[in-house]
Amino acid sequence: MEVKKIFLPESEMPRQWYNIMADMPTPMEPPLHPGTGQPVGPDDLAPIFPMNLIEQEVSTERWIDIPEGVLEKYVIWRPTPLYRAYELEKYLKTPAKIYFKNEGVSPPGSHKPNTAIAQAYYNKVAGTKRITTETGAGQWGSALAMCCAMFGLECKVFMVKISFNHKPYRKLMMQTWGANCVASPSNETEAGRKILAEDPDCPGSLGMAISEAVEAAVTGENSKYSLGSVLNHVMIHQTINGLETQKQMAIAGDYPDVVIGCAGGGSNFAGNCLPFVCDKIHGKEIDIIGVEPSSCPTMTEGPFAYDFGDTVQMTPLLPMHTLGHNFVPAPIHAGGLRYHGMAPIISQLILDNLIRPIAVHQMETFEAGVTFAKTEGFISAPETNHATAIVIREALKAKEEGKEKVILFNWSGHGLVDMAAYQAYFEGQLADYPLPAEDIKRALADIEPLPKPKQFRAGNI
Ligand SMILES: Cc1ncc(COP(=O)(O)O)c(C=O)c1O
Repeated sequence: MEVKKIFLPESEMPRQWYNIMADMPTPMEPPLHPGTGQPVGPDDLAPIFPMNLIEQEVSTERWIDIPEGVLEKYVIWRPTPLYRAYELEKYLKTPAKIYFKNEGVSPPGSHKPNTAIAQAYYNKVAGTKRITTETGAGQWGSALAMCCAMFGLECKVFMVKISFNHKPYRKLMMQTWGANCVASPSNETEAGRKILAEDPDCPGSLGMAISEAVEAAVTGENSKYSLGSVLNHVMIHQTINGLETQKQMAIAGDYPDVVIGCAGGGSNFAGNCLPFVCDKIHGKEIDIIGVEPSSCPTMTEGPFAYDFGDTVQMTPLLPMHTLGHNFVPAPIHAGGLRYHGMAPIISQLILDNLIRPIAVHQMETFEAGVTFAKTEGFISAPETNHATAIVIREALKAKEEGKEKVILFNWSGHGLVDMAAYQAYFEGQLADYPLPAEDIKRALADIEPLPKPKQFRAGNI
């Protein structure tokens, strides 16, 4: 019998995170203050984040030690197994070898606790008592809820209303871990009330929920805000995934020709691919593909510009691919991919041609998810299905070309709390949402007055 799963013993779990900022060919431009338009300093961020995380955000150290207190929690679910997808390969009749890193084995079911546990730890050390956050699909909110419980912190989650309604069990998971979760936009913040006054039926967006969570942090006592994606320190924490994967691929005796991940704010993709991007910078030939929904085509159609991370313009301006902070994506079921921006690190690596973005429509992603479930057994989160769809395309391309390619992808989470999305798919209620060019133009008009980065690109409009 051939080896299906490649495990790493706990003793082999990486003891340091990797920081690609030490190796990027083009250094990133700084975040700007939302009021003055000047580069933000650590003190500007201090009302929102603890100083130990701010230091990581701007660090250019290649390796960052993982604190013992974080390692002790990581071993609850890490190292995660790397699988060879033999059954999917057979079904597709492809000569390609397909590997997937199973991040769905964490208690909340995704990669999100890799950074949630680190952020809860650093906040605890800094004396924070309460953490506020936003969540889309609920994976991030539940991950942070669990990690706050582990460090005795209060947790307040603003969950995008459409996902709140699609996924009632995520709210209950957060409650089980002791967090308080409300639908966003809510009546609990100025930002939420303002949005609801204009549109009482607003389905919400990650940008809006971020505005609420940031406001709740800066107005709350001993409170800080935590973001589950986009920022540099989040990408750093997630690299434990790719570092493990490199060791596991070496055990398997293979090296990937193609690395694939879905990208909402960029964190699971970054976590798995950044150690391979480092190899690529140093001469390896790898095709590294980030996959996004065609209904929210941030990387493939959005300009590279300075933009706010949230709708109400409270966060610093980040240099990133963006569809504009007012962009409200179509109500697709991959709630974690409905974000207007992309991590500055991933955005810069796209500009430097180290990462290739692809957009895919919703129906193809569910078809891929069902194929994966029937062959490999696991039911994927709707976000993860985006990666699977492109894995299948690449495996079929390898068949056409008669090439024995090695394809690696990040299986970012299971979909066991997302079955309503599958139900809608089976009942024929899902559709593709091509994005009208007019919608992008309107959203982009909002960022027109903002400062432009040196490498400004107008996007595909
Ligand atoms: C399972 C899963 N995959 C992917 C994502 C996308 O986020 P990111 O791009 O930060 O990994 C999410 C976000 O909620 C998620 O829950």
